Amino acid sequence: MIEFFKNISLKDYNTFGVDVKAKQFISVDSYEDIVILVNDSPKKIKDALIIGECSNMLFTKNMNSPIIKYTYDEIHIFEKIRSKLILRVGAGCIWDDLVEYCVSKSFYGLENLSGIPGTVGASAVQNIGAYGDEAGNHISAVEVLNIETGDEETLFNEDLAFGYRDSIFKHEYKDKYIILAVHFNLSARAKYNLDYGNLKEEVEKVGLSLKNVRQTILNIRNSKLPDPKELGSAGSFFKNPIVSEDELKRLLAIDSNIVHFSHGDKGMYKIASGYLIDKAGLKGYRKGDAGVHEKQALVIVNYGKASGKELFELSKYVQKVVFDKYQINIEPEVLIY
Ligand code: EPU
Repeated sequence: MIEFFKNISLKDYNTFGVDVKAKQFISVDSYEDIVILVNDSPKKIKDALIIGECSNMLFTKNMNSPIIKYTYDEIHIFEKIRSKLILRVGAGCIWDDLVEYCVSKSFYGLENLSGIPGTVGASAVQNIGAYGDEAGNHISAVEVLNIETGDEETLFNEDLAFGYRDSIFKHEYKDKYIILAVHFNLSARAKYNLDYGNLKEEVEKVGLSLKNVRQTILNIRNSKLPDPKELGSAGSFFKNPIVSEDELKRLLAIDSNIVHFSHGDKGMYKIASGYLIDKAGLKGYRKGDAGVHEKQALVIVNYGKASGKELFELSKYVQKVVFDKYQINIEPEVLIY
């Protein structure tokens, strides 16, 4: 079904709970209908923004270009050879519903990514990651619709340039494709990834099982990340900067306790932005209804009526204070409109 709406509030459609208006809002709930929409009404979708849960977006103004919410969310087994399987999942599927489904069926692979807000389509754009894993490690292919030609195409993992919170959909393929469905490589045989921090110890306390890995991750997340249903946020607002060894040395000379991790094999390091913001004195900082979360400084929260502009202003203030103390730029991971 395709439904058209005019001048509606996006407040209930973004996890920050920001109240901006969309001039045109198109809701599409099936694969076939989005193909029809793009082919029959190319003018209607020109410059459209395709949204999932908007769990990683900050709207700072009313949106004049059309917004398309695509909710096709079917999950089925696309291929199974012995213990290896590929799931095909509609891009509109809620990410954590997919993880829950996989755990209930004893399909291994996505459990470390439990509890991340957003949709399956967004997982491929953003290469969502947590607890030592990333969506891009499991995505084998993405079915897309070419907005210009109306053709359906399949892109494979090696075409997608997955990086830290990054993919080709944020660069060359931005505005070129609509993501229709995503294929995930999973395993029906037990296979765990517990090397991150003290995850292994935490899981072993309750007994090693797929369900317990999911529950342990959910418990860790709930202990420090706000639930967007209760407090508006977009998860981590900033990325963790990746720096050279020289830059790391410069930073450690300012503060020898800066939390950092080796990143990749080229002598680069990931710096914990949360630590920098915290030590810059901003954890729990609040201006009006826009604030830095009290438990995790990487997260910006909306205590109620903050506008997108106010949240954005706060993020710029955080960047400035961190820069003044450490002379390093922390970049938003949230997409700002
Ligand atoms: N830290 C502080 N103060 C803070 C926050 C963090 O000192 O207020 C320190 C922590 O003590 C820790 C380090 O910074 O030593 C890193 O913190 P944490 O383990 O919480 O992870 P993160 O780097 O803040 C990243 C992801 C999260 C993901 C976690 C777990 C990014 C931008 N964020 O956070 O992803 O859940 O690792 O893997 O990479 C998201 O993208 O929305 C998200 C929540």
